[in-house]
Amino acid sequence: MIVAIDGPAGAGKSTVARAVARRLGVAYLDTGAMYRALTWLALEEAVPPSDEDALVALARANPIEIEPTDDGDRVRVTGQDVTAAIRTPAVAAQVSEVSAHPRVRDEVVAAQRALLSQGSWVSDGRDVGTVVCPDADLKVFLTASLQERARRRRADLRARGVEMDEAVVLEDVRRRDHADSTRSASPLRIAQGAVVIDSSELDADSVADLIVSLVEDVRERAGAQPG
Ligand code: DC
Repeated sequence: MIVAIDGPAGAGKSTVARAVARRLGVAYLDTGAMYRALTWLALEEAVPPSDEDALVALARANPIEIEPTDDGDRVRVTGQDVTAAIRTPAVAAQVSEVSAHPRVRDEVVAAQRALLSQGSWVSDGRDVGTVVCPDADLKVFLTASLQERARRRRADLRARGVEMDEAVVLEDVRRRDHADSTRSASPLRIAQGAVVIDSSELDADSVADLIVSLVEDVRERAGAQPG
């Protein structure tokens, strides 16, 4: 059973995906963490985010290891735990450029498919339902208004001790939306057959409830099929 949850930054995907995975008792794969890990490595190795060939070589030589835990995924690269290091502003500033290269995506997607081919998962990102796993049992496109996503992003930053102006955060979220949805390789879009959920006025628990009930519907329908 694969549940794919895609959507723009700040829609609440990771909180919801983690909650759904916990409730279904399956593993969670944060696909963005893999692009972040490669970006972290590129920064360490002084590989420019524009150098597609070098990034591909780096990805091939250094498999990213994902270990699902109750607290989310632990991420390792070259044996080093980078779970916290991939969340820094330095990584955030370059990950869009790194993840826009088609051949970089091919490498990362191959690793994601290898993981998802073993067992049951809830996975979130930008292209899980469109590219990584178009045959997922349930595809969800989770979104929220730009204002609400910016508000959540600002609250997240504040919780981590970073105070930022509302207008600056809004512009940052708008820029990321534009970069993720207009890039030529696997742009963010709604997968065929995806259920669209707008979380602007729903908390994460309510969205998780909704997705778990959709999974139950899918399971019932699968069970009802002859043969
Ligand atoms: O979800 P996130 O913020 O951790 O994602 C980091 C970056 O990686 C973001 O700029 C979009 C990109 N990404 C992607 O291109 N495809 C995915 N499946 C997941 C993330």
